[in-house]
Amino acid sequence: MDEPLNQDSAVDELVFKSVGIIADNQTLSGAYPASPNFEPYKYCWFRDGSFIADAMSRAGQVKSAEQFFDWCADIILARKSQIENGQPLDARYTYDGQAADGDWQTFQLDGYGLWLWALAGHARRTERPIDKYRPAIDLSILYLEKHWQEPCFDWWEETKGVYPATLACIFAGLAAFNHPKAEQVRQAIDIKSARTDASLLICPVLGAVSQEGFAPTLADIEQRIVDPEGGVHRYADDEYYGGGQWILLAGLLGWQYMLAGRREEARQKLDWIVRRAQPNGWLAEQLPNHLLKPVSYQSWLDRLGPPANPLLWSQAMFITLASVLKT
Ligand code: BGC
Repeated sequence: MDEPLNQDSAVDELVFKSVGIIADNQTLSGAYPASPNFEPYKYCWFRDGSFIADAMSRAGQVKSAEQFFDWCADIILARKSQIENGQPLDARYTYDGQAADGDWQTFQLDGYGLWLWALAGHARRTERPIDKYRPAIDLSILYLEKHWQEPCFDWWEETKGVYPATLACIFAGLAAFNHPKAEQVRQAIDIKSARTDASLLICPVLGAVSQEGFAPTLADIEQRIVDPEGGVHRYADDEYYGGGQWILLAGLLGWQYMLAGRREEARQKLDWIVRRAQPNGWLAEQLPNHLLKPVSYQSWLDRLGPPANPLLWSQAMFITLASVLKT
């Protein structure tokens, strides 16, 4: 266990650096690269980008957040007939909004809920008008209405199914615009039969599962995939880079702790992240410490080099946790 870090200035400094890292890497088109230095992540994901825009909005970076929303809206409007014809959309795109190359499976629905959630949160927080997004909002809702029950790839892009985290993100997007289907989506969320996976934390965070209802799952996550040193793994059998500690998941767990009234533990997660930042403020995707499957680490290193660093989603979850701790 780390000693408590009673340094608000260290937190403020890392928030400042994180905002700068995100802003410096945002492209002129509004896209946020998932990671500017890691070849397979030189794309913009609706999922990562929505959390990043939400964090930038919380940090007062109105223009940055809206440029991302513009990027989303352009992609959606350009695919109007595809959406109306019931065809699937991708989870990630090139910075200029084109389909990504390669065979990486990208049918994931969560991002289309998340951008709506982030946009509505931004509008509420800043009281900025979002009328210009109406056509893209309506198309996104239509898209989610058509596909929400279909199996799609999970947050980790590994297996196909109907997953609680995906449904929670769809719920949040529909609920943000008071859509009647939101409740039906919420009721389809089954956390009890889900694998112990840190992505489940998004369910209570987005209000898709009650705090009480989530308590047993949270206890299970804490017992099985949060190591005593404080790091959070994705799931117990994770082999990607040996299954390290994911920074963004420490941020997400801290956010959940705040909502569960466990402020001190939320603060500890924030401090845990501060201690793992590089001097320039970079936060990696995952740390090669306390690996779940150490034998799997080297092969990923040989194939792709070190894990993504900085990961803009990691920077974002730190900003968000710092911001909710101030409330
Ligand atoms: C993660 C995704 C993420 C992507 C870009 C993948 O390894 O599993 O959740 O969207 O990286 O950060």
